[in-house]
Amino acid sequence: MRVIGTTSELQALADRERAAGAKLALVPTMGALHAGHLSLVNEARKRADQVWVSIFVNPTQFEDAADASRYPRSWEEDLQCCREAGVDVVFAPECDEMARPLRQTSIEVGEVAEPLCGRSRPGHFHAVATVVAKLLLAAKPHLAFFGEKDYQQLAVIRCMVRDLGFDVEIVGASIVREVDGLALSSRNVQLHPEARRQAVALVRALDAAENAVATGERDLARLLQRASAEIDKAPLARIDYVELRNADSLGPVTDKLVDPALLALAVWFDSPDRDAAERDSRDGGERSAVRLIDNRVLDPRRSASPQ
Ligand code: PAF
Repeated sequence: MRVIGTTSELQALADRERAAGAKLALVPTMGALHAGHLSLVNEARKRADQVWVSIFVNPTQFEDAADASRYPRSWEEDLQCCREAGVDVVFAPECDEMARPLRQTSIEVGEVAEPLCGRSRPGHFHAVATVVAKLLLAAKPHLAFFGEKDYQQLAVIRCMVRDLGFDVEIVGASIVREVDGLALSSRNVQLHPEARRQAVALVRALDAAENAVATGERDLARLLQRASAEIDKAPLARIDYVELRNADSLGPVTDKLVDPALLALAVWFDSPDRDAAERDSRDGGERSAVRLIDNRVLDPRRSASPQ
């Protein structure tokens, strides 16, 4: 397995491999690799001759420096994980490498980036789209793989690739879950053990709404209420958003579920450790709280007729 740190070296390798007829797949990550990332690598392996993983904690996509600096990092374990998974190349650029050359050009994606996390995390998708564009230009892959847990991120990247005519196929892969249903995320390790237990409220909320659709519920307000009620059962949970959106455009949906709709959740989980919370509020941050997202497409066509 090769580890490459510069865009120019990666581009040169991509040119050579493409000229030799290899089909290249890129799995962009921010490290702290888990089974969700490995499922992307495995999917990529089925469709490509070479699987390349990028590991870059993009500082510009965090709201504040504190969140960026506490994002989990596990470089040695990540390399080992990539080796064991048969990854061919790890691209691990330094910050300077990604910020070069002039910091004057960036990518702004429109409406699809506006609701949900776009509203809660201003500037986030602007930073994600820009760094993903740079990674695609560096690795020149035929295919690039992203997890569906970050549903809006995937929609933003698909939109950017279509609009700008990137010569790459974007592939989305299903959410991987823990035994109790919590979606895998690098942020899960930041949860206090009690918050971790309560975080199962997310998947319970998705299940409750899905079950309601299966028994014929089509009223959006009642579906949202079913989902929120499950989250409200977790004392450490604070809802950022619980929303239903058109599954393709992420545009608003009207009062009845007619077409497939995305049920998207973002929830903060506080720490029950009062001292940590007080320390954080003195520092002006929210560091003992961890924000998790999850989603499911509710498809009225796959269930009982309306009530
Ligand atoms: O999903 C992630 O890990 C990141 O947002 C990505 C796509 C690697 C861009 O930094």
